[in-house]
Amino acid sequence: MKLPKLPAPPLPNALQPRPQRPGEGEKRGPVDHAKEAGISAVDWVDERTSLSGGLRWLMFRKVPKGTNWFYTLGSATMFAFLSQAVTGVFLAMYYRPDAAGGAYESIRYVTNEVFLGEFVRGMHKWGSTVMVILVFLHMARVFFFGAYKYPRELNWIIGAVLLILTMVMSFTGYLLPFDQRSYWATIVGVNINGTGPMVGPFLSDFLRGGAEFGATTLSRFYAIHMLLLPGAIAAMIGAHLYLVAKLGTTAPPWMKSDGDDRLTEDRV
Ligand code: HEM
Repeated sequence: MKLPKLPAPPLPNALQPRPQRPGEGEKRGPVDHAKEAGISAVDWVDERTSLSGGLRWLMFRKVPKGTNWFYTLGSATMFAFLSQAVTGVFLAMYYRPDAAGGAYESIRYVTNEVFLGEFVRGMHKWGSTVMVILVFLHMARVFFFGAYKYPRELNWIIGAVLLILTMVMSFTGYLLPFDQRSYWATIVGVNINGTGPMVGPFLSDFLRGGAEFGATTLSRFYAIHMLLLPGAIAAMIGAHLYLVAKLGTTAPPWMKSDGDDRLTEDRV
């Protein structure tokens, strides 16, 4: 017996052909096609990951009335870090952590021979100072606006760890050119660490990689500078931003709190 043909199940809403947009169907050029391809690619990823929900949660938040330029200092610090990461990758393509002259020579090579090498090295060197200044300015903003108080104490603590990691980043990076200035300055720095109570001597032994300052010290500083710290800072920034998005930012202290609704407004 021949069975009747069953009707096809309806398409789920997400797969229904969408209604035509105004102007759609008109003659379109390669630029329109390229735009459309970009949108389709983003849609394709989003349909499988729902990443846009997370991004919307992070980026499209309500911010307090009175939010001003001082609130950009945290993001400025983050961009300084990203710039350090990008320029650092290019420097690492040429750098050799070799205490017997190789480190100094590789830096000389980057500065004098590599295309844009001096520029990238300059960006990394000045960028480190910029990042240290920005992190202190951001911390001052948080302090003077009272943003460290309940419920943001944990974010202040994470921030303090970020501050220490940023300082250690500068300290370990300073040795890498391995010229007279970086060599002697780092000896002074390691000796200062050694004067700390109880842990001091262990800390300076750890930094030197033994009792003597030498080849192991350089590879140790290099590994800490380009592997350990960037990873730790990136993870800490992730936690820091999660808490910022979850708790929201603090209104400036001069804003009067007369009802929650009047204190907030939609901003991107
Ligand atoms: C690598 C270093 C750091 C980065 C990239 C960073 C990034 C950020 C960003 C993007 C924000 C959002 C609001 C704003 O910019 O003010 C923020 C907020 C905050 N940061 Fe940092 N930060 C860093 C270091 C610090 C330090 C050193 C502290 C304090 C010890 C700190 C404590 C806080 C606190 C408490 C908030 C919440 C502010 C509020 O609710 O208004 N951060 N941070």
